[in-house]
Amino acid sequence: MEKKYSVVIAGGGSTFTPGICLLLLDHMDRFPIRKIKFYDNFAERQETIAKACEIYLKENAPEVEFAYTTNPEEAFTDVDFVMCHIRVGLYAMREKDEKIPMKYNVVGQETCGPGGIAYGMRSIGGVIEILDYMEKYSPNAWMLNYSNPAAIVAEATRRLRPNSKILNICDMPIDLEEKMANMVGLKSRKEMSVGYYGLNHFGWWHKIEDKDGNDLMPEIKKHMAANGFADALSGTNQHVEQSWIETFAKAKDIYALDPETIPNTYLKYYLYPDYVVEHTDPNHTRANEVMEHREKNVFTACRNIIEKGTAVDGGFEPDAHAEYIVDLACAIAKNTKEKMLLIVPNEGAIENFDRSAMVEIPCIVGSNGYERICQGSIPQFQKGLMEQQVSVEKLVVDAWITGSYQKLWQAITLSKTVPSARIAKLILDDLIEANKEFWPELK
Ligand code: NAD
Ligand code: G6P
Ligand code: MN
Repeated sequence: MEKKYSVVIAGGGSTFTPGICLLLLDHMDRFPIRKIKFYDNFAERQETIAKACEIYLKENAPEVEFAYTTNPEEAFTDVDFVMCHIRVGLYAMREKDEKIPMKYNVVGQETCGPGGIAYGMRSIGGVIEILDYMEKYSPNAWMLNYSNPAAIVAEATRRLRPNSKILNICDMPIDLEEKMANMVGLKSRKEMSVGYYGLNHFGWWHKIEDKDGNDLMPEIKKHMAANGFADALSGTNQHVEQSWIETFAKAKDIYALDPETIPNTYLKYYLYPDYVVEHTDPNHTRANEVMEHREKNVFTACRNIIEKGTAVDGGFEPDAHAEYIVDLACAIAKNTKEKMLLIVPNEGAIENFDRSAMVEIPCIVGSNGYERICQGSIPQFQKGLMEQQVSVEKLVVDAWITGSYQKLWQAITLSKTVPSARIAKLILDDLIEANKEFWPELK
């Protein structure tokens, strides 16, 4: 009989949980599931999401066992996969990550610059704790992590849990590849073969071919030079709000800096920080938009489903953009050897770059994990930028492990988004005050 899998979603109270839960049901033909559990450390938040999902599951997949809990032993016993998307500090802290740097006219962003550093200092402990629960109660399980900031979390798990079965992945390259496929008239990114190097939220495509080996770069470059990613459709309902549309258009200016490669949109925070600051309302940042839209909509839908006692016409939809998570689980479960971008220790895959850096590169994924695909040497421009940014990420992890104020000050100072050590210190002192509940004490 075909093996069926048991999955726990850690961060059961996440805005993404219903969409991912429904997506899993949609893909049961290739990734059969016997049990879905939700785990969170915030019982009430999770309960709203879980009770609504429970109703949906009873109506649509009664054969799948379902449970939700805040008890680690119950959550992590008898699981094959942990899908981890936690947000330590919730949106209230994302708002502070974005607004505190803006007080000093510095980029305020969830994963980039001082905001990303602050979020990293909160996330490391949460993700390590979940990894430890998994290893204690289901030592053969795999953790698929997409909790942010993925670059810092990945470096922390490399340092602190080097032998753990964790794979770190991001959805931004997936969306951008869908857009590029659309530019050249292909139905899916899966019809392309890509070369890519970088760090998470900090990378470049250097090769894009179709299945027959034809070079697609010239056609994609024409679109990038004219409109960035703005004139392409991606086919999912993710990244559709105005602020994202502006990000896709701004990629034109990132592309202009190096017309040999196609950039990840996140580079705008490092290469055009003055533009980003000018275009950010310091009193109403992305966190506010998400709280007013996605978070409100998801929780309202859940409450309505619970009140009516049925999920029929309840507005729940599978999160098509998250299909990459099923692909990743399938690659491990079924040894599909699918090529995917993962965040992994470099170990020479980028020849002229720090071997111990966590880099984002294409890998082949199967039952025993991943094999890196070498990307050769990278140009001086990208190498310089990446060396600076990877040092920021490493210093944050140093600061978290040793409780060092000095290292964190260095990390913030080194971020390309920050103009001086003086401003870095002002931001750091504000962040320490705001994060008292979450950060290790710094000396
Ligand atoms: P959310 O705040 O809606 O949900 C996060 C949940 O995690 C909350 O219910 C919270 O209580 C829970 N949580 C926090 N700390 C925890 C801990 N220590 N143990 C267990 N549960 C904990 O957040 P969201 O917007 O849905 O995002 C979830 C995560 O997914 C974030 O880290 C976000 O950045 C990430 N994300 C990553 C990608 C990617 O490309 N890698 C894409 C989308 C979202
Ligand atoms: C992209 C990134 C994620 C990030 C998300 C933020 O998908 O890859 O890492 O979490 O954007 O989106 P949001 O809608 O929360 O601003
Ligand atoms: Mn990401």
